[in-house]
Amino acid sequence: MLIASLKPRTMGGTTNTGLLAYALARAGHEVTCYDADESQQLAAWQAKVSDFPCQVVADADTPAFAETIYRKMDHNRINLVDTGHAENHPDIVDAVLEVADLVIVTVSPASSDYERLVKPERGTTLAKIIRRSSALRDSGQPPPTVVLLNRCSKTSDEPKRYAGLLRNGGESGDEPQWDVLSTRIPLWVKLSNAVGKPCVSRQHKAPFDELVTELTKRGHLPEVSTP
Ligand SMILES: Nc1ncnc2c1ncn2[C@@H]1O[C@H](COP(=O)(O)OP(=O)(O)OP(=O)(O)O)[C@@H](O)[C@H]1O
Ligand SMILES: [Mg+2]
Repeated sequence: MLIASLKPRTMGGTTNTGLLAYALARAGHEVTCYDADESQQLAAWQAKVSDFPCQVVADADTPAFAETIYRKMDHNRINLVDTGHAENHPDIVDAVLEVADLVIVTVSPASSDYERLVKPERGTTLAKIIRRSSALRDSGQPPPTVVLLNRCSKTSDEPKRYAGLLRNGGESGDEPQWDVLSTRIPLWVKLSNAVGKPCVSRQHKAPFDELVTELTKRGHLPEVSTP
């Protein structure tokens, strides 16, 4: 299967993608990552540490993703692709959405990040980019999509408020409604420095183990068969 990690702009996407790869591997899944962001920070992370749990295929930032990269994947594994800013690179995001089985949208519960998701100054909303992908997909439907809130303060009400806004289509109820995961990635200094570092601490692991558990319970991930 192919999981796409998307975001409108900088939101913590690479941190979440990398730490999700570690958590998937801890849960017993065979994983391969793809770096479809021109910054190539996921590929650099893998090159820098000895404990990265899987191969990261670099230079996957191509509008021909469906015809080239996807065709060569082992579809029995969990393939996880980190994409760049959807608002600047819709062509690459379109190509990933054409073939993704699950989309995880990372959003931070803050006004500027929420605005960039639902009302970008320029460019197409991510909701519309996802919806229009149905025209290119074999199923004729957009891929199942969940929102992962990250950089969530434990002492603030904002994560709960933004989860409500996203689920209910904004204040007016007229905007797209999102399926928001109950797992929330905390705002922690340890996580702010995770990219390019080994995954050693409980703080690097626990929120992403919870994410894998929730995705599995919801039927988005296969159960790992124990021999
Ligand atoms: N859970 C977290 N807690 C605190 N800070 C975080 C967390 N996750 C990410 N950050 C910080 O947010 C910033 C963006 O993180 P990251 O590079 O993962 O985002 P991105 O969406 O991949 O960005 P880019 O646009 O460069 O691709 C970084 O400064 C990182 O330290
Ligand atoms: Mg990134």
